[in-house]
Amino acid sequence: LDFEEYSAAHRPAIEDRLGRLLPPTSEKPRRLHEAMSYAVLDGGKRFRPLLCIAAANAVGATGESVLDAACSIEFVHCFSLIHDDLPSLDNDELRRGKPTCHMVFGEATAILAGDALFSLAFETLSSVNGDAGKVLSAIRELGRASGTHGMVGGQMLDMESESGSPSQNEMSWIHERKTGMLIAASCAIGAILGGGTDAQVEQLRGYGSSVGLCFQIADDILDETGQSAVIGKNAGADRGRNKSTYPAVFGMTEAKAVAASSMKSALDTARAFYPKGAALEMLAEYALERHS
Ligand code: IPE
Ligand code: IPE
Ligand code: MG
Ligand code: MG
Ligand code: MG
Repeated sequence: LDFEEYSAAHRPAIEDRLGRLLPPTSEKPRRLHEAMSYAVLDGGKRFRPLLCIAAANAVGATGESVLDAACSIEFVHCFSLIHDDLPSLDNDELRRGKPTCHMVFGEATAILAGDALFSLAFETLSSVNGDAGKVLSAIRELGRASGTHGMVGGQMLDMESESGSPSQNEMSWIHERKTGMLIAASCAIGAILGGGTDAQVEQLRGYGSSVGLCFQIADDILDETGQSAVIGKNAGADRGRNKSTYPAVFGMTEAKAVAASSMKSALDTARAFYPKGAALEMLAEYALERHS
């Protein structure tokens, strides 16, 4: 099982569902809807939806049963990317091999498109069919992972640590929140809605947290070693802005060592779900070994 294979099996359903859940671009306010579709469709690895599906599979459920939940997580992710790229944050002009949302639609529309995607995420997740208690838990997971205790809080500290020299503890605090929490929530939500036990949900959240740290360190490494045409973002942008990344603060060797050890703990957890968790093992390896 490799990423290309797994992605080819599940991506068409994800892409189709994302397109159907987005507001039609023929509907008013058209420019807002065009910006939302631009930021969500035609690009992206869909790593978080794939993790959500893999976690559901690991506890014995089908991927289709968590498809809308998986899409709701991708909406939050796409919102975070639009805002992350804004001139007042990372000021990036390239994303998923295309000009960033604000380059095409202007800052004001990009901000609103992000806001609307964040809202659409919760509308989508709360509309999932299933046990109301489980759906409510899933909504809570996504809310907590997105806000000040998760992605937004991590982004805040990431911004404040620019040009600073954070400790290893502070760096992992930032990475675990800005990226790790949403990835951990993808796994927890897949497990919850897939009918996993509380213990399984916690195990899979822990797996996701390790994958998330590894995923963001790999992102930092790719910013230094990758090529813009492959990563779909302007390579070297972090150095240019003096961002506190793992390789910048600790050096490449140490960054790779921390990422590898985080991947190893994810693999240890994933193996407990063998054979249903085979995709989780592959996705943990992909988080580190990917080229884009
Ligand atoms: C980029 O995420 C931002 C991070 C949190 C590292 P991805 O690498 O998953 O971006 P897409 O969705 O594939 O474009
Ligand atoms: C982004 O981290 C984390 C988010 C919550 C969006 P980065 O700023 O490193 O992500 P990229 O490199 O722009 O995708
Ligand atoms: Mg950033
Ligand atoms: Mg960025
Ligand atoms: Mg980055």
